[in-house]
Amino acid sequence: MRKKIVAGNWKMHKNAQQTAALLQDLMAKIPATTEAQVIVAPTFVNLASAVTQLESANIGVAAQNMHQAEGGAFTGEISADMLTSIGVKTVILGHSERRSLFHETDALIAYKVDTALAHEMTVIFCFGEELKDRQSDNHFNIVENQLKDGLFHIANESWSKIVLAYEPVWAIGTGETASPEQAQEMHEFIRETVRKRFGAEISDELTILYGGSVKPENAKEIFSKPDVDGGLIGGAALKADDFLAIVSAI
Ligand code: G3P
Repeated sequence: MRKKIVAGNWKMHKNAQQTAALLQDLMAKIPATTEAQVIVAPTFVNLASAVTQLESANIGVAAQNMHQAEGGAFTGEISADMLTSIGVKTVILGHSERRSLFHETDALIAYKVDTALAHEMTVIFCFGEELKDRQSDNHFNIVENQLKDGLFHIANESWSKIVLAYEPVWAIGTGETASPEQAQEMHEFIRETVRKRFGAEISDELTILYGGSVKPENAKEIFSKPDVDGGLIGGAALKADDFLAIVSAI
């Protein structure tokens, strides 16, 4: 049975006090049992306190990024060892904002994936086409290349540590959500692309999240699609009631 996951990518929002308050609100309101595994990804400075605050809660903690090196003269960066040393065992890699704003290439993301796997971390691997790609009917090609160039070098046994997050760039933060049919069509393509290269045993068990303007009012229909296994949530993750409404939509 494939894992269902709803993860909140907080991006550069919430200081220490606001993080503690939101986590407190989530812990107070989250149902005792949820169909989905619930994960939050606060900013680096709040990860250690989030791990401590959530230690008895049914909510996991992920980092939004990490450096590919084991350590060294990389001012401002964070290593896998630093994350695992504070109990963070999941990391988002390849987010479209890392690709566009910080110029992360498929090759660099592939390196980061290798480092995270070497530290036995779970990777939430983000990818997705831009509007111009979809408008030129090139979106399947783009998505396939991002998968192949960023991820298809890993060993079969590593796929148990991979969660895919398809996030069409044109839907991120825009309110322009992909339709449930568009999401299903691409998720089905993604799963088939993995199956062709790695076999059905891996592709059938692979969790594929959708991200891009998921809101309480559209989550249920998107999550109802057979190849959508949950969501990676941005803006709506910053309010406990909205995020938990999306969790309940699974
Ligand atoms: O990583 C999730 C994020 O990119 C989606 O953002 O605000 O469109 O839900 P948002």
